[in-house]
Amino acid sequence: MKSFFFSALTCLLLSGMHAPLAAQIKNNEAGGAASVKQGKQKQFSPGKPWYDTEGNLINAHGNGIIYSGKKYYWFGEKRGKHGSEGVNVYSSADLYNWKFEGLALAQSEDTESDITNGCLMERPKVIYNKSTGKYVMWFHLELKGKGYAAARAGVAVSDRVTGPYKFINSFRPNGNMSRDMNLFVDDDGAAYHIYSSDENMDLRVARLSDDFLSSTTKDTILFRRQREAPALFRYNNKYYLITSGCTGWAPNRASLHVSSNIFGPWELVGDPLKGEGAAKTYGGQSTYVLPVQGKKNAFIFLADIWTPDNLKESRYIWLPVQLKDEGAEISWMDNWDLGWFSARN
Ligand code: GAL
Repeated sequence: MKSFFFSALTCLLLSGMHAPLAAQIKNNEAGGAASVKQGKQKQFSPGKPWYDTEGNLINAHGNGIIYSGKKYYWFGEKRGKHGSEGVNVYSSADLYNWKFEGLALAQSEDTESDITNGCLMERPKVIYNKSTGKYVMWFHLELKGKGYAAARAGVAVSDRVTGPYKFINSFRPNGNMSRDMNLFVDDDGAAYHIYSSDENMDLRVARLSDDFLSSTTKDTILFRRQREAPALFRYNNKYYLITSGCTGWAPNRASLHVSSNIFGPWELVGDPLKGEGAAKTYGGQSTYVLPVQGKKNAFIFLADIWTPDNLKESRYIWLPVQLKDEGAEISWMDNWDLGWFSARN
């Protein structure tokens, strides 16, 4: 019922999508103008099918990216015949070409486990803990057969960035519901869990324990504005937080909040997306903001174009963030490359 409702809603919203994007998706569906299936890619093509180095569609949604040992690692939801199928990981040195590294976190055969086959794993994020030398993954976990009622955070850990990750436990941070989420490691090494709570009415932040495996009680409401899909980054000693509204798989308007303290107060700046299609985030929903290594003040906005009837083939939007004194702007581009930043910094 839920998926029927959301796909009907998505159809309605797609019909209102801005013309270039709608035409582009149609074009791709017809087999035209797709991004390179094999061979080296030299640019980003938001909204087009994105293939890994073996020529398979990248299957890693609601993603997060970590940089480790001169490579980026892209973690995301593996979607397939059985719905949610764990967390996939891909690696890349240049951000355009991604090699499939395998299933970083599998669901469990053990029917007693919180992550038994049939559970829902969404929006996985991985961070590295310098003092323990471990890679730590957090994700939104829904228990098997319970829809979205459990609203928990799951934690897994690995000695190697690509895993396999070992599931540790799942919980509601300080008793709070926890759905869409992200992680953020600050310049001083402290890590934070940003999460939608109280039936998505609140967005909260909790500081993680020193080993990053649990939440501390330094946990507060950022604002009560019914926002989700949080993506946080830091620029010029300020924290920037992009979120979406709560309309399930259907796209809606993004917003940007800025604060000089991660615990707030957070000031609403408005929609950072500009131009045609901005009112619906160009058909997507925020998932992460990626700092580009070796480039000053270079950030990429990452979003998912969800296709609820076939989540596996949901597409990706990557667009550069144009930083402003009092905010940030994001504009649609059919194709672009990292030279965009060099031209501006
Ligand atoms: C969205 C959320 C997604 C997924 C979806 C299910 O609001 O951002 O991650 O949970 O709802 O309907």
